Amino acid sequence: MKREAFLWLLTATAGATPLVGYNQGTDFDYPGLRFDFDRKFRITMFNDLHLGDGARPGTDDKTIGVMNKVLDAESGTDLVVLNGDLTSCEWISPEAVNSVLDKIIDPLMGRKKPFTATFGNHDMSQTCDTRRMGEHIWDKANAGGRQMTWTTSSVKGDYNDVGTSNYYLPVYSMGGGGNPELKMVLWFFDSKGGRQYQPGGADVPVSDWVDQKVVSWFKLTRDQMQADNGGKPLPSLAFVHIPPSVTVAFQQSGQRKPSTEPGLNEELIGAQANSVPDADGPFMQALVETEGLMAVFSGHDHGIDWCMKYSATRAIPKANPATGNNMHLCFGRHTGYGGYSDWMRGGRHIVVDEDALGLNVLETWVRLEDGSVSGRVTLNSSYSEDVYPLVGKKKSSAFGVGGGAGTNEASTLATTTTTMMTTTTTTSLPTEMIYSKHNSTTSSSGQTQTTDISKTQTTDTSKPTTWTKQTPPMLKPTPSATPTQTPRMSPLPTKPTTSKSAPKIAARI
Ligand SMILES: *[C@@H]1O[C@H](CO)[C@@H](O)[C@H](O)[C@H]1NC(C)=O
Ligand SMILES: *[C@@H]1O[C@H](CO)[C@@H](O)[C@H](O)[C@H]1NC(C)=O
Repeated sequence: MKREAFLWLLTATAGATPLVGYNQGTDFDYPGLRFDFDRKFRITMFNDLHLGDGARPGTDDKTIGVMNKVLDAESGTDLVVLNGDLTSCEWISPEAVNSVLDKIIDPLMGRKKPFTATFGNHDMSQTCDTRRMGEHIWDKANAGGRQMTWTTSSVKGDYNDVGTSNYYLPVYSMGGGGNPELKMVLWFFDSKGGRQYQPGGADVPVSDWVDQKVVSWFKLTRDQMQADNGGKPLPSLAFVHIPPSVTVAFQQSGQRKPSTEPGLNEELIGAQANSVPDADGPFMQALVETEGLMAVFSGHDHGIDWCMKYSATRAIPKANPATGNNMHLCFGRHTGYGGYSDWMRGGRHIVVDEDALGLNVLETWVRLEDGSVSGRVTLNSSYSEDVYPLVGKKKSSAFGVGGGAGTNEASTLATTTTTMMTTTTTTSLPTEMIYSKHNSTTSSSGQTQTTDISKTQTTDTSKPTTWTKQTPPMLKPTPSATPTQTPRMSPLPTKPTTSKSAPKIAARI
C-alpha cells in the first residue's frame, strides 16, 4: 500500500475536505488492506515452499531466493499469500519450527510486504502444530505495532477436525479516505491433511478436506456480510492449500486443453478427500453457492499450474456438483526447492481491478524465478474458450535456474498428456511424482517411502450434521471514536487464541 502517496493525493486534491473519517485520526492509519492508488489489488501467491525438507537439505536459501526474485519482478504486490506447505515440518523438531518460519517472515518484513498464510498437509505434522505456528507468525510479524500479517484461526473446535488457517480478510476501496468501502473479501481455508501433532507419539493421519464446521462458519459469515452489504454479494477470492476435487474430475474429463487452460499438467492431481470420495462435497457445494466468488487458488500439486472455469453450463463428468457458478480454480507454481518436482520455481500473481468488481474478471500469470512470465490469462466470461499460447515447460535443477532444457507442451503433449488422460489410475507418469506429495517422510534419497497418507486415510468420515454457533461472526466494529458516517468496516482478523483448543499432547519433546 502506497499510503504516503495516497495521503498526498488526498491532500492535494481534496481541497478543504477534512481527511478525518471514521475511527481515524489525521494519519492514514487503517491497518488493513485497500485497493491501491491505481485501483488495482495485487496478490503474489507462493505455495509449497517446503522449508526444512530433510530429503533436500540446504535448499531453504534457494527457496527464499525464488520469493525475492518474484517479488522484485512483481514489486507492486499488495499482499503476499503463502498458500500452504510453508515447511516440510515432519523433518523439523518442535523447537526449531519458529526459526524456520522466520526465514520466510524476515524477508517479507524487510520488504514491508503484508502477507498471510494458509497451512498445508506438510505443515500439519507429527512434530509441528499449525496453531502454534500461526501464533508465532502473528507475534513475530505484528510486533512493534505494525500489522504485517493476518494469519489466524477464526473457527473454534478440535484442532484435528477444523485445522487452523480458517479466516477472512476484508479489502477496502482505494477511495473513501478514512471511511473506505468494503469491496472484496479474501477467504482462507485449512484443508489439513498431514498428521496429528504428537511429537514422539503415535503417527495418526488427519483427514484432507475442509471440515463441515468450517463450511458452516463460512456460510454463516458470508451470509451475514452479504446482509450487512445491503443484500449485495461481495466479490471474493478463496485460498486453500489442497485443491477441491472438481480439479481431478476436470483433468480426467479431458476438458482441460493446453491452449485454453495453459500451464503445467505434469501429474495426476491429488485433491481434497483423495481417498474418501465426496468428503469435500459440502465445501464444494458452499463454494458453488457463493455469489461473487471469482476464484479459488490452491497449491499442493507441484506439477500443475493451470486455471479452469467451473462452468455453470458445461457439466464436468464425475464432479459433484457437475456444474458450478463460473468461478475459476487455479493452481499456483511450486515455489520451493523443497518438495518434489523440478519445474522452474515461481509464484502466481493475481491482479484484481476495483472497477471490474462484479464482472468476475481477474488477470493472472505465473512469474518464474528467471524473471519470465508463464501462462498469462484473463479469467473472464470467455475463459475456457479463449486460445492462449502454449506454456514453456522450463526446469530449474536442484542447483538453481538453468539446470534443465526447456520444452513446450506442444512437443510432449502427444506422448505425455494424452497418455495420461486416456489411462485411468496408474499412469505413464513417474510414480514418484504421483505419490511423493502424500508421503510424510522420505529417505535422504527422496525415494524410500514410509506411509502414503492418501491411501491410509479412512478417518473422520462422521461429521456433525448440526453445528452450534460457537463463533458468531463478529462483523460490527466497536468504534473507538464517534463515526461521522455509517461505519462500513468489517473487523480485521484478530490474533489466534490457541490455548483453549490446542491439541492435547502427552509430552513435548
Ligand atoms: C477475455 O479475455 C481475453 C484475453 O484478454 C480476451 O481476448 C477476450 O476478448 C475476453 N473476453 C471477453 C468476453 O471480454
Ligand atoms: C510414496 O508412497 C507410495 C505408496 O506407498 C510409494 O509407491 C512411493 O514410492 C512413495 N514415494 C516416495 C517419494 O517416497
